[in-house]
Amino acid sequence: MDSTSVGEFDIKDISLAGSGKRRIDWAEREMPVLRLIKDRFAKEQPLRGIRLVACAHVTSETANLVRTLQAGGADALVIASNPLSTQDDVAASIVSEWGVPVFAIKGESTETYNRHVRTALDFHPQIIIDDGSDVVATLLKERADQKSEIIGTTEETTTGIVRLQAMELAGVLPFPSIAVNDAQTKHFFDNRYGTGQSTLDGIIRATNILMAGRIVVVVGYGWCGKGVAMRARGLGANIIVTEVNPIKAVEAIMDGFRVLPMTEASSIGDVFITVTGNRHVIDGAHFSQMKDGAIVCNSGHFDLELNLTALRDMSQPAVTLRPFVEEFALLSGGRRIIVLGEGRLINLAAAEGHPASVMDMSFANQALSVEYLVMNKGELKPGVHMLPEAVDTEIAGLKLKALGINIDTLTPEQMEYMSSWETGT
Ligand SMILES: NC(=O)c1ccc[n+]([C@@H]2O[C@H](COP(=O)([O-])OP(=O)(O)OC[C@H]3O[C@@H](n4cnc5c(N)ncnc54)[C@H](O)[C@@H]3O)[C@@H](O)[C@H]2O)c1
Repeated sequence: MDSTSVGEFDIKDISLAGSGKRRIDWAEREMPVLRLIKDRFAKEQPLRGIRLVACAHVTSETANLVRTLQAGGADALVIASNPLSTQDDVAASIVSEWGVPVFAIKGESTETYNRHVRTALDFHPQIIIDDGSDVVATLLKERADQKSEIIGTTEETTTGIVRLQAMELAGVLPFPSIAVNDAQTKHFFDNRYGTGQSTLDGIIRATNILMAGRIVVVVGYGWCGKGVAMRARGLGANIIVTEVNPIKAVEAIMDGFRVLPMTEASSIGDVFITVTGNRHVIDGAHFSQMKDGAIVCNSGHFDLELNLTALRDMSQPAVTLRPFVEEFALLSGGRRIIVLGEGRLINLAAAEGHPASVMDMSFANQALSVEYLVMNKGELKPGVHMLPEAVDTEIAGLKLKALGINIDTLTPEQMEYMSSWETGT
């Protein structure tokens, strides 16, 4: 069996490790729930000897997840879940401080990204922590012989779960996969408050534009879209929402936003933010209607929400104005469209991703999901699973404890009332 020994890695520059370590420690201060899990893992060693691949945005928060898994006894290897989201100093620090091999370089080509996915599979993982399901999909397509080695996988994001459900429906998912994203302590906070704040942070760091008074078009009013719209409104922007789901559209209206089809919104917006997990939600016809100087970016998982091939075909070659800011001058009409972060997740390309405080709960879910898979090895049926609700509630309870906030508990009288049907008015 091939195995990637510690010492083999592919990162930008190992000498960046010092700054990475300081940032990882800084993030850990805001991750009390993960710290508690790390301390318990260190004592109980629930993951002893488990070979584990973590495919994630290589950020200071992810480093703290890796630290936790290693404390639990796991033999880990880390790869990037997106070519633009790696923090190179953090990657260096994970290698030099914890001896965990990392294969991730900010700005790596798609070929390098795919090579790293295959390197991760060469490690023969028993557990895969995936973000977008690229590792699982590659394993199913190219490494049929390794399927039986997998105890289970966990999936971080909405798009990855959509792919896992498609695999399950097609009858090709051979192991249990935990839908971490679907835990309430994940998407209520990470997708909404994390993406909301960090997406605006990415746009502002890339452009330094004033949001107040701008017309911001939020494409998709799911968990991420709600957060982005809420925070853009907080900065004084006027929001237009586009949707395909009537229920989400009504929700956006009742939240006080204007809802329009994209064909109408495209000629009105100043800034466009896609968060749908869907393909080409801003297409060539929409780009051709946009105002001069319209800014377009994506915060959904993959870089296919904007049809940049169509935009390239209808424009002069792009000119880079600032890091993560490219201008496309349209061949007809002379208007200019500004694309941020190559259409990749803008919050990770141009900013630092979600703040540690929300990743604390997301990664607590990841760590406990991995433990759950190992504890229930061979017991769970192949397919997409939720973490038990009690674990979700426990994570929220630990977060409250860490924040020093007490809440009420049901009295015996209330418990009896809530569990009986006899009592009415
Ligand atoms: N940037 C980040 O850090 C980050 C964090 C979490 C999730 N994500 C990703 O963001 C995306 C959205 O995640 P979510 O949890 O909000 O998903 P969600 O399913 O809650 O919401 C997506 C919304 O997009 C809508 N939609 C689909 N096609 C559309 C179209 N053509 N036009 C308008 N609306 C359309 C859907 O109806 C849905 O309401 C996913 O790709 C997810 O993986 C990114």
